Amino acid sequence: MNDLFLRATKGEKVERTPVWFMRQAGRSLPGYRKLREKYGVLELTQNSELAAQVSIEPIELLGVDASILFADIMLLPMAMGVKLEIVENVGPVLSKAIDTPQDIRELGDFDPKDVEFLQQTIRILRERLEVPVIGFSGAPFTLASYLIEGRPSRTWLKTKAFMLSHPKEWDRLMTLLSRGVVEYLRAQVAAGAQAVQVFDSWVGALSPAQYREQVLPHMRRIFASLKGSKVPRIHFGTNTAGIFSDFSSVDAEVIGVDWRLSLKEAKKIAGKKALQGNLDPAVLLAPWKTITKTVDAAFAEINPKRGYIFNLGHGMPPEADDAVVRKLVQYVHSK
Ligand code: CP3
Repeated sequence: MNDLFLRATKGEKVERTPVWFMRQAGRSLPGYRKLREKYGVLELTQNSELAAQVSIEPIELLGVDASILFADIMLLPMAMGVKLEIVENVGPVLSKAIDTPQDIRELGDFDPKDVEFLQQTIRILRERLEVPVIGFSGAPFTLASYLIEGRPSRTWLKTKAFMLSHPKEWDRLMTLLSRGVVEYLRAQVAAGAQAVQVFDSWVGALSPAQYREQVLPHMRRIFASLKGSKVPRIHFGTNTAGIFSDFSSVDAEVIGVDWRLSLKEAKKIAGKKALQGNLDPAVLLAPWKTITKTVDAAFAEINPKRGYIFNLGHGMPPEADDAVVRKLVQYVHSK
């Protein structure tokens, strides 16, 4: 069993820096591309045998130290009754967005039975893998942004307008989603997930005061509720430099950092918590020398062998060259 990742989440000293990549499963890897000729993304996530194959492919091809379940953050809202499609080159597109506070009533409770296929994927992964399996969920703000916008957005105007115009109903929506997130992650841990990551990918759209008042209390509750699950909890977001002291204050073992904040600064703010990140995904497309220089500079800022997990600051770009990524994993391991 390779437990480098799990030991790093606990802040223990490790002999080699653990590495995994957000969105390592189901990007440009050949086995995944082949499956995608026949199946849609959601169809693949719902087929445990195929989803397990997609999760395993990067472990074998890239040599990473942890596996992330092949799923999507939209599976939770789907289990709560939301109808959507994942449109090629766009992302999640809903049949009907939340336009008014009344629309929230259409959201049902989450029942773990509706994601039995995810639990089965995790069981298969635990049987076949010698690296830890990471379960995940979207965070309420990021999920709400898809529910309210109805599709991916780069401004989150409708989401923020809703939050600012209907604070009470916003709180209700966040509470409903938070309960779903906790149950969804508990179901994954019950099936064998050895760590959980909460993706608040778009939370950096908020001002510090908006975050503190209208999101942070929900995040605190989620992480407090998950403490009893006894697996390391990772809190991830992007564009969080301006809210990092609040963002990193939740009771989590690991805090995700993107490239807009240096590891040194992040460490100062996050204190004893382990850090995960923070290579700019664009650096993967730069010459090899630039890649190693960037990694070396980051590793000079912190102790990469205690309380640190190497990752990108956000998801793996589909344009990344698998051979370069594999070489990068070996490079990090050699440091
Ligand atoms: O990390 C992994 O490899 C596991 C699989 C995974 C997927 N989605 C599969 C997927 C994970 C961890 C996610 C999380 C996810 N999904 C997030 C949070 C992480 C992040 O990137 O910030 C978000 C915001 C989504 C919503 C979503 N799903 C979007 C925006 C898109 C389309 C754009 C994109 O990034 O590709 C999806 C589709 C999706 N989910 C794909 C995959 C492999 C692409 C499918 C394809 O075209 O092959």
